[in-house]
Amino acid sequence: MKLNICKSPTDTAYALIHHILKELADEPDKIFHIAFSGGETPMLMYDIWAHDFAEVTPWKRIRFWWVDERCVPPSNSESNYGQMKRILLDVVGIPEHHIFRIHGESDPVREAVRCSEQVMKHVPVDNYLPLFDLVLLGVGEDGHTSSIFPGQEALLSSHAIYETSTHPCTHQKRIALTGAPIINAREVIFLITGKDKASVVKELYSSGDTIPAAYIAGRAQQVELYLDEAAAVNLEQKIR
Ligand code: 6PG
Repeated sequence: MKLNICKSPTDTAYALIHHILKELADEPDKIFHIAFSGGETPMLMYDIWAHDFAEVTPWKRIRFWWVDERCVPPSNSESNYGQMKRILLDVVGIPEHHIFRIHGESDPVREAVRCSEQVMKHVPVDNYLPLFDLVLLGVGEDGHTSSIFPGQEALLSSHAIYETSTHPCTHQKRIALTGAPIINAREVIFLITGKDKASVVKELYSSGDTIPAAYIAGRAQQVELYLDEAAAVNLEQKIR
């Protein structure tokens, strides 16, 4: 698990964008299937990416997937797709057919099946699982990632690609990419910033299976953490 610790959330966002652009440049003929997380943390990165790197990003070679979605329509401010559409997709003009959103407005169970079929149809398959080029994850203070919450660990070993889940506090229905397709990805990156995440970062970096995020970080083949100083404060390793 490689650590990348930067001074601020903005520095961390820039470092991560540069990392992704290098990977795109290293395989100039490849289509990249990337699964993006929602929540608050990555929105700064999406905004910087759309404005400061619009001209240098080979957008036509990126296919946009979601790690998870809240079961709300895109117009709802809770929608991960809706947020990314406003902040990046519409700003840089990503064509519809490169966007594979989760329909938060649909029946969750049926939509999880539809999304699973879409992934298997469009994403290269390896070990009978989709081979995402990159899965970008966040982590909640409770240790959840994707929308795999503590107490719903069955989603970590589910045979389905996407499953429904329920937020333990709000009881909001979610659709979540499960453990196996995340672990199978060529690369998993956790983008985590802010002092409120310092204790969960420590647990993620040093524990086994105590939280869903650690379970995934301990099994994925290529894992990198992009952290700001505040989120990394409990780790021995400091900024290089
Ligand atoms: C979501 C995310 C979720 C997120 C964590 C962290 O839909 O909420 O995909 O897994 O990464 O909850 O969220 P914040 O970035 O808002 O702290």
